[in-house]
Amino acid sequence: SSPDLVERARAAKAALGDRVFVLGHHYQRDEVIEFADVTGDSFKLAREAAARPEAEFIVFCGVHFMAESADILTTADQQVVLPDLAAGCSMADMATIDQVEDAWDVLVEAGIAESTVPVTYMNSTAAIKAFTGRHGGTVCTSSNAHVALRWAFDKVGGVDGTGKILFMPDQHLGRNTALRDLGMRAEDCVVFDPRKPDGGLTTQELRDARMILWRGHCSVHGRFSPENVAQMRANVPGVTVMVHPECRNEVVALADKVGSTEFIIRALDAAEPGSSWAIGTELNLVRRLAKAHPDKQVHYLDSTVCFCSTMNRIDLPHLVWSLEQLVAGTVPNRIVVDADDAHWARVALDQMLALPG
Ligand code: 13P
Ligand code: SF4
Repeated sequence: SSPDLVERARAAKAALGDRVFVLGHHYQRDEVIEFADVTGDSFKLAREAAARPEAEFIVFCGVHFMAESADILTTADQQVVLPDLAAGCSMADMATIDQVEDAWDVLVEAGIAESTVPVTYMNSTAAIKAFTGRHGGTVCTSSNAHVALRWAFDKVGGVDGTGKILFMPDQHLGRNTALRDLGMRAEDCVVFDPRKPDGGLTTQELRDARMILWRGHCSVHGRFSPENVAQMRANVPGVTVMVHPECRNEVVALADKVGSTEFIIRALDAAEPGSSWAIGTELNLVRRLAKAHPDKQVHYLDSTVCFCSTMNRIDLPHLVWSLEQLVAGTVPNRIVVDADDAHWARVALDQMLALPG
């Protein structure tokens, strides 16, 4: 990155002092991470945002749904800035509030809405989180999905009962957690396709299901394949394959370790020098890990999978522009969730923050 921009970022941050707090998700570019006051996965960043009431401005280097959650969790006078408004998330966009309301009507028609708890992944719009709060559900992230699912099932008769979860929008995180952590069977899961009438499911299929998985996925993690794992194992003897739970179940089933970005970082920190790792998550993070661990072999699970294009939209020029605007007294790209959605989304977010563990 240009020395001039680095200098400008430093100067703007120094001028703002404690008035600004910069959060950086692990998938952000190195040039941005350098200026983050704290880095984390989406769960850690949500907690960090809630724990900084003294900062007037929270600059969120991540994607739109994360900045929305930060706005919901901060106080009314704090302002959240997303350095590029085009930093969305294709997965979050796969569940619109109208589609989710329609899906709920289908569950009501099938007579199962009362025994269904909605659980939404952090990677969803504030409107979906609000829907979840209004219907007694919780938000979860990839680091607490198993706890969230147990909590939700406990509300409707337990994991071994007949109650259900509507899990949005990542079908893979929902399925992986149900199969790996809750001991459910593939037959317990159905996929609700919002583009098809009644989700493409019969009333009987809905009634028999335990996990109703929204048809959504991550465009980055969805690309890793079982062939990638086989090839890595053939090429790198003794390699440990570690993937994010947004990967497809066929991939997760073949991996040695599965976890959120914070989990992946901790596992590499604890790894033996000389050990070999193949990692299936976003490329900015994997490259950073390879640099941080020169004594270990860190491979990318599939060299054809690229950066998350929307995470990558936040670059140093956008960060510098945002900080300099703040110095000049203007709040650029402020993210504000409307009051009613913010209230109910907060109910679902607070429920997540109150989960055990
Ligand atoms: P975590 O930060 O929870 O690991 O999620 C990864 C991700 O895809 C964020 O967009
Ligand atoms: Fe969305 Fe996937 Fe990018 Fe995360 S990595 S922001 S889930 S598209």
